[in-house]
Amino acid sequence: MTEKLFDGKNALITGAYRNLGAVTAETLARYGASVIINDLDTPELAAEGDRVLDCIRAYGVQAAAVPADLSKSSEVHRLCRQAIETFKRIDIIVNNAGPFNIDPYLELNEEMWDMVMDINLKAIYLTTRELAPQMKANGWGRIINMCAGSAFVRNHGVYTLAKVGVQVITESLALELGPEITVNAIAPGQIHESLPAITQFDPTFSERYMARSPVKRFVTRAEIANIIALICSPAFDTMTGMTIQINGGAEIPRF
Ligand SMILES: NC(=O)c1ccc[n+]([C@@H]2O[C@H](COP(=O)([O-])OP(=O)(O)OC[C@H]3O[C@@H](n4cnc5c(N)ncnc54)[C@H](O)[C@@H]3O)[C@@H](O)[C@H]2O)c1
Repeated sequence: MTEKLFDGKNALITGAYRNLGAVTAETLARYGASVIINDLDTPELAAEGDRVLDCIRAYGVQAAAVPADLSKSSEVHRLCRQAIETFKRIDIIVNNAGPFNIDPYLELNEEMWDMVMDINLKAIYLTTRELAPQMKANGWGRIINMCAGSAFVRNHGVYTLAKVGVQVITESLALELGPEITVNAIAPGQIHESLPAITQFDPTFSERYMARSPVKRFVTRAEIANIIALICSPAFDTMTGMTIQINGGAEIPRF
């Protein structure tokens, strides 16, 4: 891809002071985008956010961090207004924040249901409602939503429900927002760097997953971030409403 593909473009990435969101922020900056990163407002996260800001600025683009709790619609509103005040225009949204919880429904408390649904799913509706009108007016926009392999199984509780919702809202928004804006989702399988968190409560997960994987390795954060950048590139101008599964073939249904 051209080195400065997103020169002059501005991106907002939620949940981006660390992990996949941070790598995505750095990747879009490497391709020339100025980036606003968002995350929760804690001192520990702020320190991680500062490190990401330094990495972004090293590419010669602008960067800003806006802490906001995406589970509160007033906070999402403030985040989007601040993003516009900072950069005047947002061209790319990556709705990345998406907490994981696979408690069985009978053990799930209502607060957790709300948290998982609000951040994974409702936040997409809220950021899009705030920022899509100016994208349409500017004649160009890209929205990338984070889905997950869990959307394609039925034993991952409310996380499955939220991620199925992500796939469906991606299709509905694609219909609503064309031709200026494309809306797509990425559904990673297990991400390599996040394995320790999963292995903690499912020690055989890695072995079972690998046994099903034709490519025999897990996808990395950098690989997903590059695919997000690709989808925002002109090569994908006619792709919208799609949910792209990236899992090394481990999640191909079989009997
Ligand atoms: N990690 C994986 O293996 C995996 C697999 C498939 C899909 N995904 C999806 O990819 C995305 C990123 O995954 P990850 O593991 O890097 O995420 P993560 O769990 O590390 O969270 C990313 C960031 O989101 C922030 N966040 C949480 N609640 C927030 C809130 N209310 N407001 C603002 N920020 C908040 C966290 O503080 C964190 O820094 C998520 O949507 C996730 O569902 C991840």
